Amino acid sequence: MPTVGLGVYKSVPGDETYTAVLSALGLGYRHIDTAQVYGNEADVGRAVRDSGIPRGQVFVTSKVWRDNYGYDSGLASIQSSVERVGLGYLDLMLLHAPGDPARREGAWRALEEAVKQASNRARNLFWVAPGLVRSIGVSNFSQAHLEKLQRMAVVQPAIEVTPFLQRKELVSFCQGAGIVVQAYSPLSKGAKLADPTVVGVAQRLGVTPAQVMIRWSLQHGLVPLPKSTNPGRQATNLDVHSFELDSEAMAELDALEEGLVTGWDPIKNDPV
Ligand code: A2P
Repeated sequence: MPTVGLGVYKSVPGDETYTAVLSALGLGYRHIDTAQVYGNEADVGRAVRDSGIPRGQVFVTSKVWRDNYGYDSGLASIQSSVERVGLGYLDLMLLHAPGDPARREGAWRALEEAVKQASNRARNLFWVAPGLVRSIGVSNFSQAHLEKLQRMAVVQPAIEVTPFLQRKELVSFCQGAGIVVQAYSPLSKGAKLADPTVVGVAQRLGVTPAQVMIRWSLQHGLVPLPKSTNPGRQATNLDVHSFELDSEAMAELDALEEGLVTGWDPIKNDPV
C-alpha cells in the first residue's frame, strides 16, 4: 500500500473531487481513499481512468456505509461501488464503522465473499478481470470491536490519529497483531496547523506544519490519508520523505495528546 494516501472525505462530488484526484495523481499520489457515503466514488474512478496511469499502479480504497450492512445488501452495495468506481476492482474495501452488531456480521461476510470471488477469479485462467475486491478491512473499530473479528487474518483499520489524538493502546494492539493502521484526518481537519508546538517544529526544520503532522504519522508506522483539494498543499503533503523528525521533535509532538476527536466517534459509541 503506497504510504501517503489522498483523503477525499468532504471533497465535493463532481468536478471538485475529479480535479483534486487528477491533480494528486499528477503529483505522484498513488493511493486514494473514498467511501460510499462520500458520494464521490465515480469521480475518483473517472480521474484515475483519465490520468492514464496503469490501473495496477494506483491503490483505491472504498468503504461500505453502515446503512448497507447485512449480507445481501452489503454484497449488492460492494458490487455497486465497484461499478461506480469503474476500475474493474477495488484494492481495499472496508466496513466504514462498527454500526449494528447483527448487520455488521453479515456485511463482513459479504466482504469475505467479495474477496473470495476475487481470488477464485484470479485462479481461473479464463478470467482476465481480477474480481471485485483485492483486500478487506475495517474502519473506526475499537480493540473490542476488532477482537470480535478475530477470524480475519489481516485487517486494515482506519482511525483518526494525530499528535492530539494518539489512540496509543489501539494502535499498539493493531501493530502487535500485524494489522496496518491508516490514519484519517491526520491534520486534525486543519484545526491544529497553527498549534505553537507544531509550528515551532516546522520552523526549526524548514517545513510546513502539515508536513510535520504527516511525518509524525509515518514515523509511528501509520499510513496517513491527508485530505486536500489544493494542488500546492497536495504536493507538500506528499513531500515528506526528504526530512525526518528527530527524537526531540517526536517527543514534543507525542506530548500533545489531548483526546481531540474532530469527527464522529463510533470507536467509543458503537456497541461491541
Ligand atoms: P484543502 O482541501 O483546501 O487543502 P484532514 O486530512 O486532517 O481531514 O484535514 C483536511 C483539512 O486540512 C482540509 O480543510 C484541507 O483543506 C486542509 N489542509 C490540507 N492540507 C493542508 C496544508 N498543507 N496546509 C493547510 N491546510 C491543509
